[in-house]
Amino acid sequence: MNLNLKDKVVVVTGGAAGIGRATVEAFASEGARTIVWDVPDVDVTKTDVVNAATQQVIDAHGRIDVLVNNAGIVRDSQLVKWKDGEVVSTMDDATFDAVVSVNLKGVFLCTRAVVPHMIRNGGGVILNASSIVGLYGNFGQTNYAATKAGVISFTRTWARELGKYRIRVNAVAPGFIATDMVKAMPQKVLDGVAGRTPLGILGEPADIANAYVWLASDAAKFVHGAVLSVDGGLVMGT
Ligand code: NAI
Repeated sequence: MNLNLKDKVVVVTGGAAGIGRATVEAFASEGARTIVWDVPDVDVTKTDVVNAATQQVIDAHGRIDVLVNNAGIVRDSQLVKWKDGEVVSTMDDATFDAVVSVNLKGVFLCTRAVVPHMIRNGGGVILNASSIVGLYGNFGQTNYAATKAGVISFTRTWARELGKYRIRVNAVAPGFIATDMVKAMPQKVLDGVAGRTPLGILGEPADIANAYVWLASDAAKFVHGAVLSVDGGLVMGT
């Protein structure tokens, strides 16, 4: 299959670690020109920084063909933790805002900055990192799950707005992927997750990277507004 990604200009946010790094490697192995936007140089929550980084890519490469909105953080906390008839703790404002700022506003800022250049260039591909928890919620993840559901709404809204400019927009909903963060979880928890996954294993960063590469390629030229679960069958029927 010819993926036709050679010399494509691909920006990956959060491309310095985990799934983002694997995504950079996967696009590079197809001959694409890859650019990483990651902290501290490019903070996706800062409008001026994102706009300047976009202009820098345009100045250097003339266009942006693919934007992978991968940067994301977790700050877990129960909405209200209750014990012995009292509130023990709640999710505080800073914890809520931090996650919304990177996972939701960051995706908005990067996409808003890049899209005019894609329209001018006759098209492009936007890929967004959602999560299975954006589909079914998760204990302790009020903030994170809401942002990952929000990313699905971004995807469907932008698919409707931008299709006429030949800009395809899709999301990937990864299940549990064995990044450093996930591998640091207790073995018992990891075994439990693998046990609930119909394929019986955790995913690898490359599994998500390969999904992004395929979605960005001409092989997926009629795939638009989709949320692709890459989760070993953990979530089905959503
Ligand atoms: P990670 O923590 O390994 O890497 C995230 C990257 O984003 C890091 O390089 C970090 O520096 C960067 N980043 C954080 N804040 C940033 C900011 N303000 N500006 C620019 N870059 C920033 O995370 P991982 O596991 O690779 O996840 C990548 C994406 O996939 C995230 O959006 C995550 O929510 C999503 N995801 C991951 C899953 C997993 O099991 N690992 C499951 C479902 C979704």
